[in-house]
Amino acid sequence: MQPLYEGKAKRMWPTDDPQLLRMEFKNDATAFNGEKKAVFEDKGRLNCAISCLIYQLLEREGVPTHFVRQIDATQVEVRKVRILMVEVIVRNLAAGSFCKRTGIEEGRPFTRPIVEFCYKSDALGDPLINDDYIREMELATPEELAHLRGAALKVNDLLGAFFAKCGLRLVDFKLEFGRPESAPSTIVLADEISPDGCRLWDLQTGERMDKDRFRRDLGGLMPAYEEVLGRIRRQLDA
Ligand code: ADP
Ligand code: TMP
Ligand code: ASP
Repeated sequence: MQPLYEGKAKRMWPTDDPQLLRMEFKNDATAFNGEKKAVFEDKGRLNCAISCLIYQLLEREGVPTHFVRQIDATQVEVRKVRILMVEVIVRNLAAGSFCKRTGIEEGRPFTRPIVEFCYKSDALGDPLINDDYIREMELATPEELAHLRGAALKVNDLLGAFFAKCGLRLVDFKLEFGRPESAPSTIVLADEISPDGCRLWDLQTGERMDKDRFRRDLGGLMPAYEEVLGRIRRQLDA
């Protein structure tokens, strides 16, 4: 059987139900738009476990997502959606491309979260776009965009508070949204939420607990993800 789609970190498989997909997390890690590549044993399992726990938490808090159920260690059943070609990034502290773009030092907290939009296009390197681009490119209507912004800020509030209880600072993260095939007039959170697409810093030590360890060759990527999963589990059990 062939996957419907194979990306850098996941494979999407068809199921017997045309409205559902099987999302398989791979052990591959990439950075800088796929320029840097490596394979980490167990990464698929860790990201799958973290993402499932986060999506279940968000569902309980009233955020609609594509999550249906975890199938096994590396696979999740999700609602099939048409992904919006807009990636939504929320930033609480200066890091990554924000620092590169502005020259502002890493770690400066913002007075309010920054919401950023990128055009989801690997060929173009996911460029930064704004509301006017999104309207003219017909990526989303102004009403949908307002919804994305609101949903992203709600996710930021919920996850920022949750990760703080885990002793982690939610520095920034990327979200993807889609329209379910079964209900195309609605928008749900899709893809994954894991340390691949978030920056998480230890609240005490500032240690990087996310994919920046790979981007910057800091080592210890899987021990950091394992630690994040352990803290999430302990907090949910508390
Ligand atoms: P990439 O495409 O960036 O290399 P991945 O390896 O994570 O990323 O591949 C997963 C792909 O599946 C992404 O393009 C993502 O937008 C898409 N996707 C995520 N959730 C769903 C869903 N519920 N339905 C359809 N497509 C999805
Ligand atoms: P950035 O600082 O590189 O723009 O990244 C901001 C956040 O978005 C960071 O937590 C990592 C995440 N991200 C992805 O998930 N995928 C991407 O392709 C990029 C560029 C960032
Ligand atoms: N997600 C992109 C990649 O996999 C960029 C990054 O995360 O640094 O190449």
